[in-house]
Amino acid sequence: MASISLAISELTPGKPHKIEIAGKDVCVARIGDEVFAIGDVCTHSEASLSEGDISDYKIECWLHGAEFDLRDGKSLTPPATEDAEVFVVTRDGDTVTISLNS
Ligand code: FES
Repeated sequence: MASISLAISELTPGKPHKIEIAGKDVCVARIGDEVFAIGDVCTHSEASLSEGDISDYKIECWLHGAEFDLRDGKSLTPPATEDAEVFVVTRDGDTVTISLNS
């Protein structure tokens, strides 16, 4: 399974980060000491979610304002109607590892 590991200190809280795992763009978000990983593709019209804004546990697409729950990828507000992909994040001390689902 493809994965990438980073130090949690590399992730600024409240700011989305774009990473690539095996050619797949992933948006990583740190909220406090929690880290979430969501597909970096808005399900509305494929804008990059890592260019959006984070508030609470939501990320808002910069293009038309759809919001997704970072915890489970749920589409929360239109115009997106499909959920975003989410990825497994594990933590070992100060290291977080994000893994593709297959
Ligand atoms: S591309 Fe994200 S809301 Fe339209």
